[in-house]
Amino acid sequence: MADNDLLEICNYLIEIVKDAGNIIVTTRPTSLTLTTKKNTADIVTQTDQAVEDFIRVRLTKRYPTFAFIGEETYKTGVAITDQPTFIVDPVDGTSNFVHAFPEVCVSIGFVIEKKPTIGVVYNPFREELWSAVKRYGAFTQRSGGDMQKLPLVSAPLRGLGPACIGIEWGSDRDGPNFELNLKVFTALARTTATGGRFVNSLRCTGSAAITICRIAAGQQDAFWECGCWAWDVAAAWCILVEAGGIMVDGHPGEWNPPLDNRRYLAVRPAAEGQQEFVEDFWSVIGDQRSTYGPPN
Ligand code: IPD
Ligand code: CA
Repeated sequence: MADNDLLEICNYLIEIVKDAGNIIVTTRPTSLTLTTKKNTADIVTQTDQAVEDFIRVRLTKRYPTFAFIGEETYKTGVAITDQPTFIVDPVDGTSNFVHAFPEVCVSIGFVIEKKPTIGVVYNPFREELWSAVKRYGAFTQRSGGDMQKLPLVSAPLRGLGPACIGIEWGSDRDGPNFELNLKVFTALARTTATGGRFVNSLRCTGSAAITICRIAAGQQDAFWECGCWAWDVAAAWCILVEAGGIMVDGHPGEWNPPLDNRRYLAVRPAAEGQQEFVEDFWSVIGDQRSTYGPPN
């Protein structure tokens, strides 16, 4: 696809996420109707569904030949194909949204041959936008101000010790995925004297998409989660890579994971230290594994 077309699509996606954001901020969380999905830590609201409908109608009208995958209408087993595809999370950070905790975003990724090609993420509560087009760099805009090129902050990565790492508890609260989280979180947090890595800080933002954008901006060093879906990461992945960051497997070994890998480790832009950081993080995981992975 021609670069001009990609830039035009990106501009349209920016328009859509801002309009979708208006729907989100004008909804009163206290009057929301919640439905639980897997369990009470995995929820959906009518706003998630209404915003996805709004985005799908706009996108399919303007780009009828492109495929569309959205979190709220996704049917188990549907695979991402090589076709140009919009991958949409209408409200990433739904638990934040119902608590009026203002880390919530609309996330629209556009992938071609399953590769993140355009990414647009917008937090309407903070009026914070992140966007990228493959080969054109990544940008952020705050409160409608000037577009700033990402990363905002860049320094060599100096290993796990000084790092601020994004993690999430997810919705598995027992079993192997929970046990792996406990092991990794504990090992990262513990003092070195007691066998840990004593990282500077661990942060749970409650939105994978926003956290990966923070990594792209250089405001956090890394993000690790097993259990996310393609719609949580598709847009932010493009923003991360265009800013100079990398996305690798959340389990040790794979430097170029597929979009639907379900396990992700995002590392911020840095002229030095990315590879060492990843290898060190993977060593913390050791031989234990989550049950998540790409479809067979
Ligand atoms: C969730 C958020 C959360 C992450 C979960 C996602 P949702 O998306 O991104 O931070 O830990 O894996 O499913 O449910 O708020 O759209
Ligand atoms: Ca999500």
